Amino acid sequence: MRLAAAFGKIKEGYMYMTNIAILGFGVVGSGIAAVIEKNALPIQRMLPDGINVKYILDKRDFPGSPLADRVVRDISVITGDPDVSVICEAMGGVHPAFEFTMAALNAGKSVVTSNKELVASFGDELMSAADKNGVKYLFEASVGGGIPEIRSMRTSLASDSILKIDGIMNGTTNYILTRMKNDGVSFDAALAEAQSLGYAESNPTADVDGIDAQRKIIILAAVATDRLAADSSVYTETMTKISALDADAASRCGMAVKLIASYAALDGKMSLFVCPRFVKGSNMLSHIDDVFNGIMLSTEMTGDVMFYGRGAGSYPTAAAMVSDVVAAAKNSAELPMKWKKAEDGFVIPFEENSFSYYIRIKADSPAVTGESVRLVVGDAETLASSPVGYAEFITPKIKEKDMRAAVSGGSLGEVESLIRVLD
Ligand code: HSE
Repeated sequence: MRLAAAFGKIKEGYMYMTNIAILGFGVVGSGIAAVIEKNALPIQRMLPDGINVKYILDKRDFPGSPLADRVVRDISVITGDPDVSVICEAMGGVHPAFEFTMAALNAGKSVVTSNKELVASFGDELMSAADKNGVKYLFEASVGGGIPEIRSMRTSLASDSILKIDGIMNGTTNYILTRMKNDGVSFDAALAEAQSLGYAESNPTADVDGIDAQRKIIILAAVATDRLAADSSVYTETMTKISALDADAASRCGMAVKLIASYAALDGKMSLFVCPRFVKGSNMLSHIDDVFNGIMLSTEMTGDVMFYGRGAGSYPTAAAMVSDVVAAAKNSAELPMKWKKAEDGFVIPFEENSFSYYIRIKADSPAVTGESVRLVVGDAETLASSPVGYAEFITPKIKEKDMRAAVSGGSLGEVESLIRVLD
């Protein structure tokens, strides 16, 4: 009887398919099923017997979906099924995603994820559990949606050192900034559009306050250094204070306002932060618009390497996860990662970084204000065509702590906007 059942499976090719389970059937989870269906032929070049979605774990039912009969509520059905070799975690959030991922890894199943919050919080523990169980924990989709920067850092750039990363890593905020700049759409309307397009987090404050980008730069810095920084050590500034006056000033100086996440290696430590920047026109990041992300790596041997593509959305993110399923099923070789939590002091205090700044000061006389600004920050450039009642400057590079002291001490007058410049 058992043999006959097994024979039936072999005949259908079922035993040779890569059986997967999808945890969370929302924007990304349903995209995984769609990618597997639409791209069955390209996937079969790598996995000739294809991928079968055996289970979907979700609280909801999906009547009418061709996969409605795969829905289960209990993770142990999935972890206890020896046919399932790879689990796609697209639930988001830390709990119960952490517990489910740990259970899957300990049951000898590889896990692929788009969950940046989980990877940025517990990537070290999950990676170590994967290693102990001889399986994979892969997270290409957690940063940059469909852009293959993590695998590239671990394969093609494996012989190089990543010295610096600057990137637009949040599609929602880039979409909002672009719509505000190009089409005069209000912040709230642009955010609502990003939500309806499936770009935003379920709680979009994570997007607009820079938390999503913070998680992503923590992950990329860990890929570069094997050190997982605590979120509390990463200075993170909201983009909600960016105004039309800021966007206009940036255009007048040939720059664009972007939410930039940055990492730099510094004498055995690192600098790590997220904040809105005036990005100079000579930097390719200033030209990346809409939902697109751009990630610029500066490496020791190769120099600058730029990644560009769709950083959010169902299909790009799902396609990256399905590629991770293929990598896990093929057990493909990548630079092994063994992350440790970054020790205290590994991330330098934000105040120790130096920047050039855009400053807008309420002022009756730009000329008089310019003299006092130059006394404090040195040879600042005065912007032309400032709005009436304001003086605007681009300062030379100074330490963040000195700039903060100047602003809070009142020596620059009434500063309405202070935005760091990215060369
Ligand atoms: N909310 C994220 C973004 C989704 O807008 O980039 C992709 O991580």
